[in-house]
Amino acid sequence: MSVRPFEANTPRIHPSAYVDETALVIGDVEIAQDSSIWPMSVVRGDIQSIRIGARTSIQDGTIIHVTHDSRFCPGGQPTVIGNNVTVGHKVILHACTIEDFCLIGMGAIVMDKAIVQSRVTIGAGSVVPPGKVLESGFLYVGSPIRQVRPLNERELEFLEYSAQNYQRLKDRHRALTAPAEAICDPTPIKPEAAPATPPAAPKPRTRRSSTPKRS
Ligand SMILES: CC(C)(COP(=O)(O)OP(=O)(O)OC[C@H]1O[C@@H](n2cnc3c(N)ncnc32)[C@H](O)[C@@H]1OP(=O)(O)O)[C@@H](O)C(=O)NCCC(=O)NCCS
Repeated sequence: MSVRPFEANTPRIHPSAYVDETALVIGDVEIAQDSSIWPMSVVRGDIQSIRIGARTSIQDGTIIHVTHDSRFCPGGQPTVIGNNVTVGHKVILHACTIEDFCLIGMGAIVMDKAIVQSRVTIGAGSVVPPGKVLESGFLYVGSPIRQVRPLNERELEFLEYSAQNYQRLKDRHRALTAPAEAICDPTPIKPEAAPATPPAAPKPRTRRSSTPKRS
């Protein structure tokens, strides 16, 4: 997996979590137990922090970022994702808060300071504008997003099922993928020493004539 520090901050990932080899996790990021980060996702905690709770899945191609401290956003804005959240494929979560047991549909965008309260489903391709608060227990869809109706019993149950399903799936992937420590030699690679003298130029090769010599 590709995990790297940024300045003083190194990602902290629970040993039971799964980060796909092609995902990228940078800086001030915490990923709690049994969560999963799927292929080609980016979790970039360079200019503020990112917190991902337990049993949460961040599916393929998702981008999670934050906002830096400036006069336009004093203190900056972290991204906080709760427990048992399903983040679908190719979602963008930017400096926002997602509470427990939510489902963020494929391709949705959640912008700065938006708050998605617990047990909300966001339809695929929706856009949640900055600062918007989505009320617990409802279905939301559209761009800009609008509240559609309360989630029914079956849909609420699905939010729990979805988190459990992805927890099981990440265990199957982990079983097939050797942990990074097992396949990487931790010895730092030394830079190749420069040669003391430049290597001798190769001698020009004489071409052999293809015509047979006369006897
Ligand atoms: C939002 C979703 C749950 C709606 O399910 P649903 O049972 O069809 O909901 P409803 O039938 O009550 O639809 C409500 C309205 O929203 C519309 N709608 C449904 N999904 C929509 C979407 N993604 N964007 C915009 N409108 C949507 C419906 O057409 C309907 O419109 P109408 O009232 O004008 O007829 C589903 O379409 C969806 O987007 N699921 C996301 C799945 C996903 O991404 N999972 C993650 C991958 S694991």
